[in-house]
Amino acid sequence: MSKASLNTQGTEKQQCPVQPKVKAQDPWAHQAKIPGVNYVIAVASGKGGVGKSTVAVNIAAALSTIGKKVGVLDLDVYGPSLPMMVGIHKPPNVLNGKIQPIEKYGMCFLSFGMFVSENAPVIWRGPLVAKLVNQFFDDTEWESLDYLIIDLPPGTGDVQLSMVQRIKVSGAIMVTTPQDLALLDVQKGADMFKKVNVPVLGIVENMSFLRCPHCGKEIEVFKGQGGELESKRLGVPLLGAIPLDPDLTITSDLGMPEVLTHKESSITKIFLEVAREIDKLLLK
Ligand SMILES: Nc1ncnc2c1ncn2[C@@H]1O[C@H](COP(=O)(O)OP(=O)(O)OP(=O)(O)O)[C@@H](O)[C@H]1O
Ligand SMILES: [Mg+2]
Repeated sequence: MSKASLNTQGTEKQQCPVQPKVKAQDPWAHQAKIPGVNYVIAVASGKGGVGKSTVAVNIAAALSTIGKKVGVLDLDVYGPSLPMMVGIHKPPNVLNGKIQPIEKYGMCFLSFGMFVSENAPVIWRGPLVAKLVNQFFDDTEWESLDYLIIDLPPGTGDVQLSMVQRIKVSGAIMVTTPQDLALLDVQKGADMFKKVNVPVLGIVENMSFLRCPHCGKEIEVFKGQGGELESKRLGVPLLGAIPLDPDLTITSDLGMPEVLTHKESSITKIFLEVAREIDKLLLK
């Protein structure tokens, strides 16, 4: 009974004599560091409209404020919002075949939205998305950066997969809103990062509360503790809770991030705390 063993019914179970000849490929074999970039941070959520781009741009501005050299790459090829959020409406230069990210506010920025008209509908299928994402990584000349912040589209689709296959991501920051419905999608997003060996650094809860402009009381607009629950489930810190505040929408729409426009605001202080915490976590 050399190539067989007994199963629970006592009958013989034959082992397959044919061994697979194809070796399983390591899906992460092509992950590479981006030349000159120290840490790559992905800002993500399984859900749309929770404030990923707002949080990404303001975390970038906060890291820059505490003295870091920062770049922002908007990988939302379906609905790029970086051009509007930082007020850049021209395509970047290309020098010797390399895209030169555009400098503004002491940072540098690149978005697919800088190459197309803002109103153009963007329809991309899987292979094209992968090609475009790889081109952003292969053909862009970032200057020496402490941090490259990547703003991702919602979900766990082609962009996320192409990114983690191509570059070494230092960590992900998951953005959620307090309510359960948002939390379920955020959990899916966080679990995807765990699966592909990207550590989740922490959670940012956005639209956590509204401060009453009359009495200063905190109003829970969306009921729930999404940020806290997800941070406990993953065993990672809740990095910050950002209030719902019209200022954030206004500054984003004007192309001037809140952190750079209202340097003393309570929201800016929260983003600065988040930035310091991220810096500490990565230096550990
Ligand atoms: N804390 C906040 N207070 C007020 N408005 C906010 C806040 N966070 C985000 N917003 C606004 O909500 C809208 C959606 O935000 P944002 O574009 O950052 O979300 P997103 O998750 O990146 O969306 P998408 O999934 O489409 O990429 C924007 O108009 C933004 O200005
Ligand atoms: Mg966005």
